[in-house]
Amino acid sequence: MKVIITKDYEEMSSKAFEIMKEVVTENPAAVLGLATGSTPLGLYAKMAADHRENGTSYKQVRTVNLDEYEGLDATSDQSYVYFMRENLFRHLDIDLKNTNIENGKAKDPEEECARYNALLEVMRQDVQVLGIGSNGHIAFNEPGTPFEAETHVVALTESTIKDNSRLFARVEDVPRRAYTMGPKNIMNAKKILILANGANKAKAVYGLVKGEITESLPASILQRHPDCTLVCDEAAASLL
Ligand code: F6R
Repeated sequence: MKVIITKDYEEMSSKAFEIMKEVVTENPAAVLGLATGSTPLGLYAKMAADHRENGTSYKQVRTVNLDEYEGLDATSDQSYVYFMRENLFRHLDIDLKNTNIENGKAKDPEEECARYNALLEVMRQDVQVLGIGSNGHIAFNEPGTPFEAETHVVALTESTIKDNSRLFARVEDVPRRAYTMGPKNIMNAKKILILANGANKAKAVYGLVKGEITESLPASILQRHPDCTLVCDEAAASLL
């Protein structure tokens, strides 16, 4: 794993943007695997600014997102489909038809997981952007998820519900279940770009880079990926 330590969030976002820009410049029809959460917001702002100022086009780009809350769709401002439109897609010339995410309102969750897995097979990510949870989760793959798992529905852990509650009015409002790509779908990406900032991520980042490869720390599987880059700030890197 390549590790790039930056002084702060701003520099982390700039480095991540450089990597993203290279992917899109090399292949204007790239498949981008995207994440939600606070971590990639700086990267997304830089993609939007670059599109505005330099005209980098996303017309042919296709995207696949990691995860979505069960029970929410674009009509909810807490859904991840809404998050992506607000924070990235509406600032680019991307065709929304080329953007993909699990359908949180699907009637048959098993069928929805099968649909998403089939899609990911024909849309292998040229790059997959990831954040990391303070418990080492990637996407919504919580500790204990089998490395072989593909898209599935998960019950979120108390720690993740608590982490995510800052984005909701009340902790009771955080959905308890979510759709998520599995570690296997993530590992299938050609390139992984994982970002981390802040001291609350330091323990997870240590496990990601130097810990034992174990399902107890889902991100540790990335040590086996042939092209994985971690960009993190000094606070997140403090235990390395
Ligand atoms: C988001 C996702 C999550 C986050 C992680 C970190 O799509 O899959 O795994 O990447 O929870 O969240 P933030 O960036 O908010 O600290």
